[in-house]
Amino acid sequence: MQHSPVSWSAQWIASSIVGGPRVMAPAPFFRKNFRVEGAVSSAVLHITALGVFEAEVNGHAVSDEVFAPGWTDYNKRVYFRSYDVTGLLATGENALGAVLGDGWYSGYVGWGERNAYGERPMLLAQLEITTADGKVQRVVSDASWKTAPGPIVEADFMMGETYDARRELSGWSTAAFDDVAWQAVALPETPKIVVERSPGTPVRRQEILPGTRQEIPGVKADAPRRLFDFGQNLTGRVRLTVRGPRGAQVEIIHAEILEKGAPYTANLRKARCRDYYTLKGDGVEVWEPRFTFHGFRYAEITWKQREDVTVEKVEAVVLHSEMAKTGTFSCSHALLNQLEHNIVWGQKGNFLEVPTDCPQRDERLGWTGDAQVFVRTAAFHFDVLGFFRKWMRDVCDSQSVAGEIPPVVPQPPLGGWLPKDGGPAWADAVFICPWTLYRCYGDTEIVRDTYECMATYMDYLAKHKVKDFIRSHPEVDGWGGFGDWLALDGSTGGCEGLTPRDLIGTAMYANNAHLMAEAAELLGKTADVKKYRELHGRIVEAFRNRYVTADGLVFGNTQTGYVLGLHFGLIPPALREKSAAELVRLIKKNGTHLATGFVGTPYLLHVLEAHGHIDVAYALLEQETFPSWLFPVKNGATTIWERWDGWTPEKGFQDVGMNSFNHYAYGAVGDWMVSTVAGLEIGAPGYKKIVFKPRPGGTITWAEAKLRTPQGDVGIRWELKGGKLELDLTVPAGSEAELSLPEGWKADSRALKPGTQKITATPAWSVAAPT
Ligand code: BGC
Repeated sequence: MQHSPVSWSAQWIASSIVGGPRVMAPAPFFRKNFRVEGAVSSAVLHITALGVFEAEVNGHAVSDEVFAPGWTDYNKRVYFRSYDVTGLLATGENALGAVLGDGWYSGYVGWGERNAYGERPMLLAQLEITTADGKVQRVVSDASWKTAPGPIVEADFMMGETYDARRELSGWSTAAFDDVAWQAVALPETPKIVVERSPGTPVRRQEILPGTRQEIPGVKADAPRRLFDFGQNLTGRVRLTVRGPRGAQVEIIHAEILEKGAPYTANLRKARCRDYYTLKGDGVEVWEPRFTFHGFRYAEITWKQREDVTVEKVEAVVLHSEMAKTGTFSCSHALLNQLEHNIVWGQKGNFLEVPTDCPQRDERLGWTGDAQVFVRTAAFHFDVLGFFRKWMRDVCDSQSVAGEIPPVVPQPPLGGWLPKDGGPAWADAVFICPWTLYRCYGDTEIVRDTYECMATYMDYLAKHKVKDFIRSHPEVDGWGGFGDWLALDGSTGGCEGLTPRDLIGTAMYANNAHLMAEAAELLGKTADVKKYRELHGRIVEAFRNRYVTADGLVFGNTQTGYVLGLHFGLIPPALREKSAAELVRLIKKNGTHLATGFVGTPYLLHVLEAHGHIDVAYALLEQETFPSWLFPVKNGATTIWERWDGWTPEKGFQDVGMNSFNHYAYGAVGDWMVSTVAGLEIGAPGYKKIVFKPRPGGTITWAEAKLRTPQGDVGIRWELKGGKLELDLTVPAGSEAELSLPEGWKADSRALKPGTQKITATPAWSVAAPT
């Protein structure tokens, strides 16, 4: 469809029914009848809401989008959609309708109360019809529309949806519907915000998973309490098929995990996560909520004993933002394949409008730290360029006048304490995300679009957070960041780990300066290149002086301290071997276990590999005992847990205050699995150059990665056979490729051509068998 600019003459409309900070209100329906004289040659509906909407023309949905128009900083911006509705209109009488949910605008958001942005949802709609005679007719939202509440008694992301099928407004969006009982709409003040087209990707239903009935210990099979397992922790909602008497009410309880065979919901905190459906008593009834979503693997369905309800079918509808699957990884190790599966589902479950920390408890926020940790892995599995283009704009919108980048984006008022600045590794998403996306997709625009915001943040840091090139310097700021969030080396059981915050801050600051210089170079900003390279040099020097001893020890002596120092090149080259040896000593002392949190974990295996300890990297990857990536896998996880110790046999569940079973952050290891275990690495942005660098290790005997890149399909598969390494490599026509073998190996050919080729490598020490 053509995207010509829209000249709005529509007005914002709303219902006069308003909830409150803690009171939910029914979802308002809106409608308008109109006549079309002559044959319709084209018709486009431009529509948006503050809240979330679904629109219909003559009884037909105009799209299959869910939660349109998505989440932005509604104080600044909202996106509209344009739908081609030519085929839905007829000559003569027609009707246009829409129903609104509170969504992020006026529903519960995070752990806050309702009405974060406004007290009730609002609609803006403009239908532009061109008839065969060339005349243009407009139907716009204005005072002539009517509104009424319908069957959606309440609908909220955190709480759930309550639907009374007895109140259905049958035919409400058709011209024949009698709306005499409907009310006039309210005309709220026009919000002073930008209304524009979205650069992002819409949320849609992605797949349907059938529920399998499971016994609840101690509950009789015919009791009005049924448990269904979808076999997968997911984000979405339940589609219910039931029969029963009019007025019977069914409750759906959602849970990620079971405790003693029954749903465990304590970790959902204030989020009710329950839906209610009241039957109309009309034979088989199929219901799926419209304006809510939950994070769950299990659904428990209950109703009152005396009501004769039959549950015919229970399905899970998986929702996430549209993103094409681009990359796959598999190998000979079954548990690692399950880990890969969990990483992919962690992404599906948390890429809903914004990259969220988790999809289930009263949080579901665009935590900047989590997003930067995972972005590289995300960009392998799915095409997330559009998704992040939109979110990076959200990040820039959320920057304060002083230059701060908040810890969550968008940042609605949440109540309670939250720093204004996200701090080290959180706010730094503003550098890491666009740069990573540029590397993965070769897209310069995302860097260009964010550059000013990045530069402003660097100025903010220099002015407010840095002393003597040390960021989060104890003398500068009382709060130095979230630390190495959820690291296991915290002696007091705190969440921040033991790695000093100023050390983390300064390491990340050095990386920021480096990325600024890279970005400046890409965009041809020569003066900035010089400025940020110099700054980088000063930060590195400050880091060395303050944190690195003459014999290569890093202050604090934590795994993450070494990881950051080594990964960002902050340790003098002559000392790196010693530092790496100390990191290995710490890991071994810990029984070959990691102790890193959100900040250190993504780089851990890369650092071990780069400093001659790939064997230790493999040992950590294949480690099955706690704490490790495979420990949750061994314990039945189908997504990535928020915490290494979300559940342990000794302690049971972690603190209910913070224990999600669907947090993608630690899934960032997927990046190493692809780049090293399979051996598919970016050589130049957008895979214009590919480096195949298989590094067989651990117990793995074969591995493969396939990726659809902007240049075409790339693939690598290797297998160890009879002491040889057999490689299948696929190079797209538009790319250059290079083969890098483990030290001491040689290949029968290294000349890589576009297309698929087989190459055999042998260790230099093996004697070639006569052929
Ligand atoms: C979120 C995290 C987030 C953290 C910040 C938590 O509540 O779930 O994933 O990054 O807070 O410290």
